[in-house]
Amino acid sequence: MTEAKKLFVKTYGCQMNVYDSERMAEALGAQGYEQVDTPEAADMILLNTCHIREKAAEKLYSDLGRLKPLHEEKPDLKIGVAGCVAQAEGEEIMRRMPIVDLVVGPQTYHRLPKMMEALDRGERALDTDFPEEDKFAHLPKDRRAKRGPTAFLTVQEGCDKFCSFCVVPYTRGAEVSRPAERLLREARELVERGVREITLLGQNVNGYHGLGADGAEWGLARLVRALAEVEGLERIRYTTSHPNDMEDDLIAAHGDCDKLMPYLHLPVQSGSDRILKAMNRKHTAESYIRLIERIRAARPDLVLSGDFIVGFPGETEADFQATLDLVAEVGYGSAYSFKYSARPGTPAAERAPVDPAEADDRLQRLQAVLTEQQRATQAGMVGRRVRVLFEKQGREPGQIGGKSEYLHAVHVDGPDRLIGEIAAVEIVEARPNSLLGRLVS
Ligand code: 5AD
Ligand code: SF4
Repeated sequence: MTEAKKLFVKTYGCQMNVYDSERMAEALGAQGYEQVDTPEAADMILLNTCHIREKAAEKLYSDLGRLKPLHEEKPDLKIGVAGCVAQAEGEEIMRRMPIVDLVVGPQTYHRLPKMMEALDRGERALDTDFPEEDKFAHLPKDRRAKRGPTAFLTVQEGCDKFCSFCVVPYTRGAEVSRPAERLLREARELVERGVREITLLGQNVNGYHGLGADGAEWGLARLVRALAEVEGLERIRYTTSHPNDMEDDLIAAHGDCDKLMPYLHLPVQSGSDRILKAMNRKHTAESYIRLIERIRAARPDLVLSGDFIVGFPGETEADFQATLDLVAEVGYGSAYSFKYSARPGTPAAERAPVDPAEADDRLQRLQAVLTEQQRATQAGMVGRRVRVLFEKQGREPGQIGGKSEYLHAVHVDGPDRLIGEIAAVEIVEARPNSLLGRLVS
């Protein structure tokens, strides 16, 4: 037997990339690659990149720079770049970085095996097409490998919203939804492999409109309800959503579908209508707040999460205040906030930027408020009973850890046999990044 070739994958950015990396590793696994934890141990290094904010692309180039000495030591080392930077700057990467052998955009991962053959012939390979076929349906996979209790499942890719700051519509392309039947089959396979919780992924996941078994077009709510029928699947989540696609049946599902977890990531980006308009978000602060009220009416204990951008071109102090007002009114259990970064090729990149020092200051002020809301939400859990899906051993001996229905990390003293199971827990203490609980029988 020949020794397995070694693959090291580094993932930047969103959960979609985490999922894609898993699928690519699986596909390369079918070609005899096994995954290792360090670049030094690898015969092939794959960097799965993100282009959503500036630093990620810069980071790619500096990471590639850092790989140069390793490449000199091991001239046979193969280096590949995947993901959205590959899509946006494929040619440029090939030109600037001769150590890169392979560039593959997010829509052509199923062509990796073919591309690897080119590498074996000593060629370089680049593919950043937007082909028609479903890349996941064509990726080789290992259906028997055991899984942890949680998994991602990509149901939709791409985005047609064209928010004026965002590269996703350009790097991931137009919205494409995967057929519901295929997703149900994959969900059943995941459950057979030990999965209890599935997070449905998509850049605009609630815009899902896949072909159903009955020939009709299914929205996300219909898909969620069908998944809820899968025996052994206990929990369903989805991310990331756009406010304008929160349709009535999806809101209703939050109230009456027990398996749909009470946590929702629903980015608003700004609280100023003037800025929302410039962002091409097609909703107002008011319509977003009314929407949250309706979702909370369906599921009062819902924990809400969001994304914010500060320092968007033209944002004044008054606009920023409107964002702070919205945050105060809505109340977030967790949130991500970013300083605007101009992405080449997007409409907003043409406009005059806000003073960077001012943007930094706003980001700090917003983050202070959001951190405090997060702390208060966690503190509010103390004394409450939650249900935890245990995923792994905790840091301290005898401890196990998992997630509550609200996506809070929870640790308890408990036996390893509970890993992969859901158990009732009373929260006794809120720590900065997790909750401490005790098992209740
Ligand atoms: N600058 C800053 N943040 C951005 N995001 C997307 N594009 C940009 C950009 N150009 C943020 C948005 C989005 C999240 C995934 O990243 O808040 O919801
Ligand atoms: Fe980007 Fe999300 Fe807007 Fe689509 S909805 S353009 S992915 S920010």
